[in-house]
Amino acid sequence: MERIKIKYALEQEAGSKIKVKGWVRAFRSNRFIALNDGSTINNIQIVIDTNQLEKTIVDQISIGASISVTGDLVESQGKGQKVEIIAQQIEILGIANPEDVQKTILQPKKHSLELLREQAHLRFRTNLFGAIFRIRHAMSFAIHQYFNNNDFFYLHTPIITGSDAEGAGEMFRVTNLQLDNLPKTEEGNIDVSQDFFGKETNLTVSGQLEAELGAMALGQVYTFGPTFRAENSNTSRHLAEFWMVEPEVAFADLNDDMKLSEDFMKYVIQYALNNCKDDLAFLQQREINEDKQKPQAQRNELNLIERLEFVVSNDFERITYTEAIDILKRSKPYKKKKFKFPVDWGVDLASEHERFLVEKHFKKPVIIYDYPKEIKAFYMRNNDDNKTVAAMDVLFPGIGEIIGGSQREERLDVLKEKIKDFNIEEEHIWWYLDTRKFGTAPHAGFGLGFERLIMFVTGMSNIKDVIPFPRTPKNAEF
Ligand code: 4AD
Ligand code: MG
Repeated sequence: MERIKIKYALEQEAGSKIKVKGWVRAFRSNRFIALNDGSTINNIQIVIDTNQLEKTIVDQISIGASISVTGDLVESQGKGQKVEIIAQQIEILGIANPEDVQKTILQPKKHSLELLREQAHLRFRTNLFGAIFRIRHAMSFAIHQYFNNNDFFYLHTPIITGSDAEGAGEMFRVTNLQLDNLPKTEEGNIDVSQDFFGKETNLTVSGQLEAELGAMALGQVYTFGPTFRAENSNTSRHLAEFWMVEPEVAFADLNDDMKLSEDFMKYVIQYALNNCKDDLAFLQQREINEDKQKPQAQRNELNLIERLEFVVSNDFERITYTEAIDILKRSKPYKKKKFKFPVDWGVDLASEHERFLVEKHFKKPVIIYDYPKEIKAFYMRNNDDNKTVAAMDVLFPGIGEIIGGSQREERLDVLKEKIKDFNIEEEHIWWYLDTRKFGTAPHAGFGLGFERLIMFVTGMSNIKDVIPFPRTPKNAEF
């Protein structure tokens, strides 16, 4: 008999004989097994009669064990489920020694998220992480669907690159030189000509520059891949390895870019609302329970699902950087000197400022655009005021910056001037400059931090809990 997934078994009408496989979540009164196979957050209840099963088999049914069950699907006598399985045959596929289980997070009690992170192999088995990673999957699917529906082409940009797209210098070096015996030039520098690629290479910080090459021929492309930043900041919003989604559109300006970002975010969040109901309901209830332990001021004003619905049904606020500075200067926390970081035209906004604008002032997603050129990357298009660039950041409640984007500087002479100002060697990005020589065109794009999106959709407050295997400073276990 072929097994069916528990998700479908739970939807079936009572009356048939079926086979399911899964891991034991609970075993009560020597009679009721809660079985989960990952296909849904919901367990199926298995009812056993210990007199009808071999004792050695019953003895091996314990939390964490994997089993195969054949039996009759019947209407459930108990509350909480429509159907259950009266077991006729149970096969033990893999035991889980109760003494070992005692020491793990499989033990049914509340565990800290920190402890769960240390047992990455078992954290997938919890309701919480099952829900998070099913949603993470659904979101990546929704992203591909959105772009496919809108005639974008998925472009695979390289992970190993020779360029520092963001110019922030926070890169991981890629080399196969022997680190304890580096070849040196006559001047005493590392002789990179002997390295694998014959030059200095790093893990990519963004696929944008390569995506621009694609957009200049295919019209609309997007990348969706791993991105690496050696930022030594151990915050709840930064990873050393994260996934970025980067659309790039030819014949588009900053307005088109902002419109695309808003439409895109609303689509993928609506997708979660439509397709991840059970998992979202679980996450919402968990958040409500957690909030009860917190002082009033730290509780969420809206429930998780309400927050998602709010984003989908309201326009994002759009303000210039200059307006943002004005609002901040007139704000209560500024006047009461509550902000830690300075608020001055020309200084980058700190997370505290962004969160004030989004969570306190506007109470909705905000797009800030036209930033001072000194604080943004070299490739952003100069505005006519010669002080600002056509950049935009999308800020989300509880997250802060979720998207960063811009219209690109398509004028060769201006771009050359800019790379000089940023101390970038022309010879390193000749291939990028070339796109401005052969039919250059206005174009724009943005980058979405995929994990920050998952944080928003799941309500999780630490980015380490929305990626299966987090990479952070001093942490690359598993
Ligand atoms: O604002 P960023 O640095 O923009 C770029 O890299 C552009 N090249 C994007 C483009 O225009 N194609 O990064 C984009 C987004 C941020 O808004 C943030 O959500 C996320 O990537 N991000 C990180 N997420 C997790 N950990 C980190 N260390 C991140 N750094 C950026
Ligand atoms: Mg940014």
